[in-house]
Amino acid sequence: MSKNIEIKSIVNSLKVPSMSGVTKKSINRKFCVAPMLDWTDRHCRYFYRQMSKHTVLYTEMITTGAIIHGKGDYLRFNTSEQPVALQLGGSDPDALAHCAKLAEERGYDEVNLNVGCPSDRVQNGMFGACLMAKPELVAECVRAMKQVTSIPITVKSRIGIDEFDSFEFLVEFITVVKDAGCETFIIHARKAWLTGLSPKENRDVPPLDYDRVYQIKRMFPELEIIINGGIKTLDESVEHLKHVDGVMLGREIYSNPYLLAEVDTVIYQDTDSPVLSRIQVMDKVASYITEHEKEGGRAWHVLRHMMGLFQGLPGAKIWRRSLSINGVKSDKTGAQLLADASSFYRSENLTK
Ligand SMILES: Cc1cc2nc3c(=O)[nH]c(=O)nc-3n(C[C@H](O)[C@H](O)[C@H](O)COP(=O)(O)O)c2cc1C
Repeated sequence: MSKNIEIKSIVNSLKVPSMSGVTKKSINRKFCVAPMLDWTDRHCRYFYRQMSKHTVLYTEMITTGAIIHGKGDYLRFNTSEQPVALQLGGSDPDALAHCAKLAEERGYDEVNLNVGCPSDRVQNGMFGACLMAKPELVAECVRAMKQVTSIPITVKSRIGIDEFDSFEFLVEFITVVKDAGCETFIIHARKAWLTGLSPKENRDVPPLDYDRVYQIKRMFPELEIIINGGIKTLDESVEHLKHVDGVMLGREIYSNPYLLAEVDTVIYQDTDSPVLSRIQVMDKVASYITEHEKEGGRAWHVLRHMMGLFQGLPGAKIWRRSLSINGVKSDKTGAQLLADASSFYRSENLTK
């Protein structure tokens, strides 16, 4: 049996009519950390979770091809990362449905379809931002995933691509995909150029248009709209939340992760959950690294995401240098490396 037929038959056997369209779990997406390839892996997400209980964390994009044909366990995560959403890259409805079903079985709280990434590699595979030009196909993918799961199926897109950047184009895209049952849209508030700009340039060069996203929320009040792109502070986030249902931050969290420590209080109004100091966060991650090392993993897999922990404080440069120089080559354990790199801060008795 060919792989495609095999997947089709698995998907068909999973189609349970009573589950169709019913969304089981509800998660509060007021504040989300963006999917970032090579950055928001499971170690990074574990680190982030120590600072905020409520923030919704997204995996890096994982293609259906990797999950179905790859050798490694691409879906592995630690349950303490929850609420956590799996971002899928793909455009074959059956393959996506198969992967979404696996994600639900593994305990993911949401599956998000990538309709925003503009890289060439992604366009050749016919997924990512180029799918904005094919709303019917995106709708078919959403329908297929919803049919076999009961966790939310969401879509992350841009406001447009290439010359298709009118408000009407975005409205048409949202309308078609919403009619397939997608109730949550994460919108990166800038268009993507599919040719001529690198993925990195596509995150900076096309101008941000937050108003367009607010307009979408006004036009579709029944939908949950999450705004993304260029947001750097919790004050800005609070301002956006006057217009939309949630915010998603990417690069700012990666370079200044301790911003997450105030999210539960400021965004979720949860004053009961303890806020850990940076040192306490580090100690938690040190124990996690020890476990990772026992499994044969390298401390650097985790440490590399922690460079920004002391961002903005005196000594942050020493911390970063110590981690990056010793982290890659030293034969010390992760716990020792963290203790060495933070000796300056430990003597300071930091409470935050
Ligand atoms: C290193 C890196 C990798 C990214 N990988 C993905 C990805 O896998 N899937 C995705 O939808 N967006 C990806 N993005 C885009 C982010 O999710 C986000 O939309 C973008 O960075 C804008 O948000 P920001 O200004 O808060 O960073 C990536 C961004 C960066 C910086």
